[in-house]
Amino acid sequence: MEHRQLRPFPHTFLWGSASAAYQVEGAWNEDGKGPSVWDRYTKLEGTTYKGTNGDVAVDHYHRYQEDVQLMAEMGLKAYRFSIAWSRIYPQGRGEVNEQGLQFYDNLINELLKHGIEPIVTIYHWDVPQALMDAYGAWESREIIKDFDAYCVTLFKRYGDRVKIWVTLNEQNVFIGLGYRLGIHPPGVKDLKRMYQANHIANLANARAIQSFRRYVPDGKIGPSFAYGPVYPYDCQPETILAFENAEELNNHWWMDVYAWGQYPSLMWSYLEREGFAPELADGDSELLQAGKPDFMGVNYYRTTTVAHNPLDGIGEGTMNTTGKKGTSQDTGVPGLFRTIRNPHLEATNWDWEIDPIGLRVGLRRIANRYGLPVLITENGLGEFDHLEDGDVIQDDYRIAYLRSHIEQIQGAISDGVDVIGYCTWSFTDLLSWLNGYQKRYGFVYVNRDEESEKDLRRIKKKSFYWYQGVIKANGIQKE
Ligand code: BG6
Repeated sequence: MEHRQLRPFPHTFLWGSASAAYQVEGAWNEDGKGPSVWDRYTKLEGTTYKGTNGDVAVDHYHRYQEDVQLMAEMGLKAYRFSIAWSRIYPQGRGEVNEQGLQFYDNLINELLKHGIEPIVTIYHWDVPQALMDAYGAWESREIIKDFDAYCVTLFKRYGDRVKIWVTLNEQNVFIGLGYRLGIHPPGVKDLKRMYQANHIANLANARAIQSFRRYVPDGKIGPSFAYGPVYPYDCQPETILAFENAEELNNHWWMDVYAWGQYPSLMWSYLEREGFAPELADGDSELLQAGKPDFMGVNYYRTTTVAHNPLDGIGEGTMNTTGKKGTSQDTGVPGLFRTIRNPHLEATNWDWEIDPIGLRVGLRRIANRYGLPVLITENGLGEFDHLEDGDVIQDDYRIAYLRSHIEQIQGAISDGVDVIGYCTWSFTDLLSWLNGYQKRYGFVYVNRDEESEKDLRRIKKKSFYWYQGVIKANGIQKE
């Protein structure tokens, strides 16, 4: 749609930024915290870029006041952060750790003191190692009650002050990379186990939402889905079939369950035929139906372009985790689709195609299909930054990226999509899971790298001042 006049951003629009516990906090074994799967996984040989881990990360645990002060200076309206499950329950269940609860109390209070809305992510990939050891974490239905108990503890403790909650961050990613590609914990490559663990995560998500209604009746809750809207490579009918296959398997497989409590039927019969469909137990469908969200949280980085892939076609390829452009490989599901580089789009040094219009496409598809409001829970550019003399970082490329995406959000709002807010990824630089510290996302540079923690000094980038202006103007100002 082209508009004669764009709708302005609503006055309540949440201009925010986001992070995750493991990527920023550090203090991995302090104040009673138990180990998470990431504390263990990153110590295994060859799992991450240059062996990096989040033991210290960017030391947010000890510097949260300074970080919140910077958020306040920027004028941030909302800050999305995650709670480390094993800080609250070091063993994943059983005894609660008061010091862990206290840390997030302090953080929440600090944010509120500065008029910043806290958005809490309950789970951002760091399941307690104790639960992995006890029953294989997401592979056992036991986790449903343990996750629920953890959620209820959070709802009771913070529900008076936190009104926007995210259940699971990118279930499609932690399950897909954990059980299909085997590059996240637990490092398994087994599709049967993957779809079963995913089903259990769906049940845990729904149960948590059910409990939420009881404990925080005036709050809003939803999952954060890593949405890569799919494009057909061309208009050959077989490409269109491949495109539909990919949109259904990559996206509807998750979002239909969140929004409607049911799996898409064609993909269900495909997985059943392949022997990978999850096993349903009595009461599962009712539970899924009972745990509907208030919004769809969307983490958007890029679109996926696909083409036909025969039964003997390509399967999994490798990812670029080094920043050497052009080193990632195409991937596919034989008989369904294969990815292919979109010749119309530029890509980052990590080969992520930059596509602001894709965000608008995704927002429109969600609005049309599910009729839910959308909270953009992540969007940002991971790039090399250069610290110049005098503590200057001229990240014009990041400004261009964010500007173009914000323009398309306004386009989507003008098209009629209800977008509640926009959390950029990320506020400070942080650990990028498999990619080390050199892939930077923040408005605030953190002076550390893979080799050394240096002084962990915070330095405002050019984009910091730019986003400050966007928030002040409630949108992009015309130059
Ligand atoms: C999302 C995650 O997948 O994208 C974040 O929720 C992550 O935790 C972000 O950092 C960017 O991905 P990456 O791999 O570049 O760090």
